[in-house]
Amino acid sequence: MKAERGKRVRFLSGVQPSGRLHLGNYFGALKQHIALQDEGEAFYFIANLHAMTTVQEPRALARQTADVALDYLALGLDPKRAVFFRQSDVPEVAELAWVLSCVTGKGLLDRATSYKDKVARGITPSVGLYYYPALMAADILIYRSNVVPVGEDQVQHIEMTRDMALAFNNAYGEVFPIPQYRLDAGAKVPGLDGQKMSKSYGNTIEIFEEGGALRKKVMAIVTDSTPLEAPKDPESCNVFALYRLVAGEAEAEQMRGRYRAGGYGYGEAKKALLERLVEYFRPFREERKRLAKDPARVEAVLAEGGARARAEAQATMRLVREAAGLPAAPVEAAEAAGLRPARGA
Ligand code: TRP
Repeated sequence: MKAERGKRVRFLSGVQPSGRLHLGNYFGALKQHIALQDEGEAFYFIANLHAMTTVQEPRALARQTADVALDYLALGLDPKRAVFFRQSDVPEVAELAWVLSCVTGKGLLDRATSYKDKVARGITPSVGLYYYPALMAADILIYRSNVVPVGEDQVQHIEMTRDMALAFNNAYGEVFPIPQYRLDAGAKVPGLDGQKMSKSYGNTIEIFEEGGALRKKVMAIVTDSTPLEAPKDPESCNVFALYRLVAGEAEAEQMRGRYRAGGYGYGEAKKALLERLVEYFRPFREERKRLAKDPARVEAVLAEGGARARAEAQATMRLVREAAGLPAAPVEAAEAAGLRPARGA
């Protein structure tokens, strides 16, 4: 993870506002992304332009975007340490996607497995869905990011981004650093049915679920039919796998002992899990409620993040336009707002 001499590594990642975040999102990705804000310069954004490939109900898009903002802020994303913004607040990203698409062979996009998977799942094969990797490459390159923390499913997109950056640099001269991905540790988070927790499997427990709804979900976690008296194997149990994420090491060890000793039922284990889950997320839940009552503050955070991100993007686009033979953009909003990019262009 090398950045240019004297510069901090720049991390960037995006999340689509396609529904409520769940425990798989949190333990598999978000928790690590939030921790990275202390290791370098972090840019995190809500990919509402990407979400338009699947969400075409304007109120739903707006609400889901607002929800993800609340989720991230409540879970510890600190807007003083990370630049946190909405993708659509930086319209230059769509411009860069176009520029990149012109140096990208169609064959590269033809090979995108996420496009094929999505179409196979019934998502409309729009031009936007096809072009998705170009927009994602622009997200990454416009901030001249060095490291992109993502899950396994996004690795091909980062490889495509590298290809596009190289193609641009070859055609027009070195403008973009070539980014790397950093695989999320991908804590194994089973869903209610024991498959990987994922929105597309409908087996999720939402981070901010509470009360009866949360209880119902926990009680619905699939377990085997070992009788109550019999010893049980903690390592192959979905309830235990979730418990160890939210309980301390000592408590997990105790629960292991109970499983192995026998006479301890899955119902009790689920109750213990429910308690720990509630406890673990309590401070975050309280913070989320506080933030939800203050939409003006959340909006101010996003607007500020958007302005900072946009100033960076405009600085990059000055280089891109110059390299490609386009005149400078006539209006530079960030400059007009008196903001300077964090890094000189
Ligand atoms: N495609 C990513 C996902 O679905 C979201 C995303 C959009 C992203 N742009 C990005 C992730 C740039 C990392 C970097 O999860």
